[in-house]
Amino acid sequence: MDKLILRTGSPGSTIDPAVYGHFAEHLGRCIYEGIWVGPDSPIPNTQGIRNDVLAALRALKVPVLRWPGGCFADEYHWKDGIGPKEQRKRMVNTHWGGVVEDNSFGTHEFMLLCELLGCEPYINGNVGSGTVQEMSEWVEYLTFDGESPMAQLRAKNGHPKAWKVKYFGVGNESWGCGGNMRPELYADVYRRYQTFVRNYGENKIYRIACGANVADYKWTEVLMREATRFFDGLTLHHYAWGPGPDWESKGMATGFAASEWYNILQNARRMDELITRHSAIMDQYDPEKRVSMIVDEWGAWYKVESGTNPGFLYQQNTIRDALVAGLTLNIFHKHADRVRMANLAQTVNVLQSVILTDKEKMLLTPTYHVMRMYQGHQGARVLDLTLPENPVLAGDPSLPRFSVTASVDQAEVVRISICHLDPEASATLDLTLPPEMVGRKVVGEVLTAPKMDSHNTFDAPEAVKPMAFTAFRSTAKGLELTLPARSVTVLTLRN
Ligand code: AHR
Repeated sequence: MDKLILRTGSPGSTIDPAVYGHFAEHLGRCIYEGIWVGPDSPIPNTQGIRNDVLAALRALKVPVLRWPGGCFADEYHWKDGIGPKEQRKRMVNTHWGGVVEDNSFGTHEFMLLCELLGCEPYINGNVGSGTVQEMSEWVEYLTFDGESPMAQLRAKNGHPKAWKVKYFGVGNESWGCGGNMRPELYADVYRRYQTFVRNYGENKIYRIACGANVADYKWTEVLMREATRFFDGLTLHHYAWGPGPDWESKGMATGFAASEWYNILQNARRMDELITRHSAIMDQYDPEKRVSMIVDEWGAWYKVESGTNPGFLYQQNTIRDALVAGLTLNIFHKHADRVRMANLAQTVNVLQSVILTDKEKMLLTPTYHVMRMYQGHQGARVLDLTLPENPVLAGDPSLPRFSVTASVDQAEVVRISICHLDPEASATLDLTLPPEMVGRKVVGEVLTAPKMDSHNTFDAPEAVKPMAFTAFRSTAKGLELTLPARSVTVLTLRN
């Protein structure tokens, strides 16, 4: 039996709730249909935002939402999305399917969504095809409360009071779709644009610079060397995909070979190495860790579902994705001293979504359930939870069987989360607790499913859902747990 040891000695860093953030781009059916149906829709809505999705996201306690992109952000001109709907410009969404974007969801609608969710807005400004003036005016429009052209325009459009905006990103993937810049150029461009991202009144903006693509360590080095003092956060993007070496050889979300189970989980685990190595570079320039690493795009990326627009990035979501989510959150917890925001891509109907919709129907994905099961970790402090030996799996001898994390919240409630990556067999774990915790009241929840690609459909929306976890017994030193294959388990220990 494998051993798991919890030590409560001195709790580590606080897990910033923003690590449980989401990302919603004008891409496919994420914003349109997934979130926004318009006030005249037969789908029940609140001022145009669909009620079922709203309720599901509220239950997740979404801390922060990133918008409007992604690649779309660097083509988005915010003034096209304000004012009377019938006068808003129609444009082509060149990145994502070449469809018409009618701008009916713009700044006011996004801020309303954040208000209804009770989350922080994270707005990504346009550097690639936008001007400094345009970005500067957007910040003025959003946050300036006095008398100014943009504050007047906002009032004319029905919102006299300024909003609070905490997070602002200056460009997205500026090494790629956001302008194909080299890091030296972007560092200078960033310094210039951010100068005009002003703090008005009490509103203090957390400035976020575009960071590296996956393992581009040179990008991080140059940005930290040339511009550290001008930003609060530096981003990192990493998607888990495979099995082939090139982008075109991505696998499917369902119906995949057993080897792809291991391949995707290995790819997701790579996040640990990426954060470690980018952080080491950041440490050289910022040893006090003032600057946050913001993983504002992460998740699994597969081929689109057959018969869907290739530009819409619509994919199913299985128990494998639940494990991708769980183990990635565990990695973020481990690096809580540097990673202070992360945004799962993307909220509804795009990539590793938490929600899928089909017209008036909605379902929660296995990934949703993990985000909900883990929410007690938000704002808690990391505890030392170790597996003295983490055995590897028969199907891939370089993939450890378990990924684990633990935290303690302000009410002294301890949570232990365990991802069991074996697709075939169950396992037992001997959990040693600190003496003062032996005998505490334990409540458990588990998410598992019969097959590697089990998922929810609109005909069977609850095929994969969490259940109470009762497969444990007390021992002299703690608990003995029996974990099903392909499972995410969360234990809550209360006094
Ligand atoms: O999330 C989909 C796309 O992936 C985003 O628009 C872009 O930033 C990234 O390449």
